[in-house]
Amino acid sequence: MTSSGFSVEAARAAIPQLKVQVRGKGLVYLDSGATTLKPQSVIERVSRYYLNENSNVHRGAHYLAEAGTYAYESARQIVADFVGATTKEEIVFTRGTTESLNLVASALSDSGRLKGKQIIVSEMEHHSNIVPWQLAANRSGATLVAVRIDDRGEIDRGHLRELLGKQTAVVALTACSNVLGTIVPVKEIAADVHAAGSLLVVDAAQSVTAERVDVKSWDADFVAFSGHKVFAPFGIGVLWAKKGILEELPPYQGGGSMIHQVTFENTTWADVPQKFEAGTPNVGGALGLGEAISWFQAQNPDLAMAHAKSLAEKARQELSAIEGVTVYGAPMKRTSIVAFNLNGVHASDVATVLDQQGIAVRAGHMCCQPLMVRLGTKAIVRASFSIYNTAAEVESLLVGVRKAKEMLN
Ligand code: ALA
Repeated sequence: MTSSGFSVEAARAAIPQLKVQVRGKGLVYLDSGATTLKPQSVIERVSRYYLNENSNVHRGAHYLAEAGTYAYESARQIVADFVGATTKEEIVFTRGTTESLNLVASALSDSGRLKGKQIIVSEMEHHSNIVPWQLAANRSGATLVAVRIDDRGEIDRGHLRELLGKQTAVVALTACSNVLGTIVPVKEIAADVHAAGSLLVVDAAQSVTAERVDVKSWDADFVAFSGHKVFAPFGIGVLWAKKGILEELPPYQGGGSMIHQVTFENTTWADVPQKFEAGTPNVGGALGLGEAISWFQAQNPDLAMAHAKSLAEKARQELSAIEGVTVYGAPMKRTSIVAFNLNGVHASDVATVLDQQGIAVRAGHMCCQPLMVRLGTKAIVRASFSIYNTAAEVESLLVGVRKAKEMLN
């Protein structure tokens, strides 16, 4: 327990999965970049909904439907407060970051704003912030270009300024690289992007547990994130955008709940955010997300995030000191992610040896194949830390990597 209010022991005690044995050993979970573990309270919130409260929302007139709608909309308010939105109408529930980004790309394309224009992404984007833009570019006759990153793993802001111009409709960037851990200066970049008259779309999937997300101070136009990376269940995510922009854009999908009136000749849309929530939403997921955010807020997030980062820094330093280990990127501001390789050994083999010791890491291209090309590798091993990890787990990782080196070299 730190004197100032964050207790890693309390955070660990809240997570049932940390008690699980893996291959006969205590789990060392260093894959929170892929998905965070879920607190008991989140699991219980979702269970309670299905045990006692199950109902559809925005439809029924009965008690459960009203209570469900109230709970669902309360979860939206929790998300709005978490990201600093002006109103909860700025929060669209989606399946996750990927759907949020597809929604924006598709709606912008359908609005005609991308026609013949340029879309800028960066070399370190996740595929989910590249492929939806490629699809939109193909539909709109737009051109997709990539802004370079430098050798530290930072966005090359000079190159971005060169690329930006009247022809640029959208810049879509990660707020935090899922490989290099780079924390991108969103606010500064937003100023450049807006000076060029373009829109800024931010993939905050890794950022929600790395830095406080404050959409007002970022001044981006769209921000996307997934629930499952902030201690919530899978299948629920968020798109934030200013109400005015959401109102201007055409819907992404059609169906129930997103309409005002339907005739065979014409359909009019519901108000935002319902216009973008066609069909029955993931009510249980939204309640779980609300609970997860409340749980995270109760951990003293600033201290908790600093704790996770300090573990990653220790791992980064110690891994760099092992001969034959390459650690990728050295951004000035970075989060609790360390990407590395044992030279001459495939990342999957390293991950397999670690797994035999109960240590869960991710190995592969991290859904960032263009970044792998930039880094000159096909795959990396990624250790990603969260607020429930410990210094002892950093030691386990180091022991594991040394063992992998002995076995595989
Ligand atoms: N995008 C997630 C990751 O980086 C799944 O692992």
